[in-house]
Amino acid sequence: TQLSQKLHPYQRKRTDAVPSTGSQRTLKVAVVGAAGGIGQPLSLLLKHHPHIETLVLHDQENVKGIAADLSHIDTSAVVQHFQGPKKLALALKGSDIVVVPAGKPRKPGMTRADLLDANASIAVAVANAVSTACPGALLAFITNPINTIVPIVAEILKSKAVYDPRRLFGVTTLDVVRSKTFLGESIGVEPEEVTIPVIGGHAGLTILPVLSQCDPPFDGDEAERLSLFHRIQEAGTEVVIAKAGRGSATLSMAYSGARFVDSLIRGIKMEGGDEGVVECTFCESDVSEAKFFASPVILGPQGVKEHLEIPCLDDLEKAALKCLIPILKKNIEAGIKYGQSAV
Ligand code: LMR
Repeated sequence: TQLSQKLHPYQRKRTDAVPSTGSQRTLKVAVVGAAGGIGQPLSLLLKHHPHIETLVLHDQENVKGIAADLSHIDTSAVVQHFQGPKKLALALKGSDIVVVPAGKPRKPGMTRADLLDANASIAVAVANAVSTACPGALLAFITNPINTIVPIVAEILKSKAVYDPRRLFGVTTLDVVRSKTFLGESIGVEPEEVTIPVIGGHAGLTILPVLSQCDPPFDGDEAERLSLFHRIQEAGTEVVIAKAGRGSATLSMAYSGARFVDSLIRGIKMEGGDEGVVECTFCESDVSEAKFFASPVILGPQGVKEHLEIPCLDDLEKAALKCLIPILKKNIEAGIKYGQSAV
């Protein structure tokens, strides 16, 4: 659908959640990998969500203690916990949203793609469990490499005849969060005031922050623009290097995951008003030449309500898009191949 490019829907400011009428707490949200570096702070943030009635924690170990700890927090979401692969389907039963931060993080020198062997089996296990336990749930994957993990999940769900492209997401919110932070610093405004779409994928050159559509406008010269562009693309690696072998972003990723889950919930609850809730996320679409692509979507009760067009791009961004498409297609092909061999 052609939407006015004057004020891209992406540029609308987020407002606080509007309380719904009646009981607010109706949703069951499951976190797979809840005892991990991202899972713990993500679960903490979700324990505060006004619409979550049941917060389910699943992990391979230590989940009982995390659940006991969280359950003492004086918010009404009820915490349940399940441990081990045999309990995964039981954990997910009846969930409205499943968010998956499970998986191994990078070490310095590794790319996200290097995590495929370690993390692909998680995608397969979760997709299999979802297909029986909660086929209608909205599924948000944080597990890397996102560009490949999401297509794997799609293949598994397809093989079980429960795939709905509107309901499967790769979380790329951290790319937006980082862009807002760095641009806020650079422009000299509060990061919350900045809106910017980030499109493509979630790894290196596939991350395309659309600086030309930033609001307020970023009017740095070419060198500043390139340096900011590069910093956003390599921000994950900046954290990996700073953590020096002790993993990758956990806190900022948990914040971003919680923000994305909140957007899914606002979509379910129709809190975006007539215009809907807009987020950039990696999902199946035909907005680009790649089968899966991160771009702004309008979220509604069934997940993606509408794919917005790729925002207007300047010459630098057009060149970046041209360069990322073959890389992204390769990442996606690897996922489709893996997924098909795993069914
Ligand atoms: C990030 O962007 O921080 C995550 O994808 C983790 C990583 O490996 O960079």
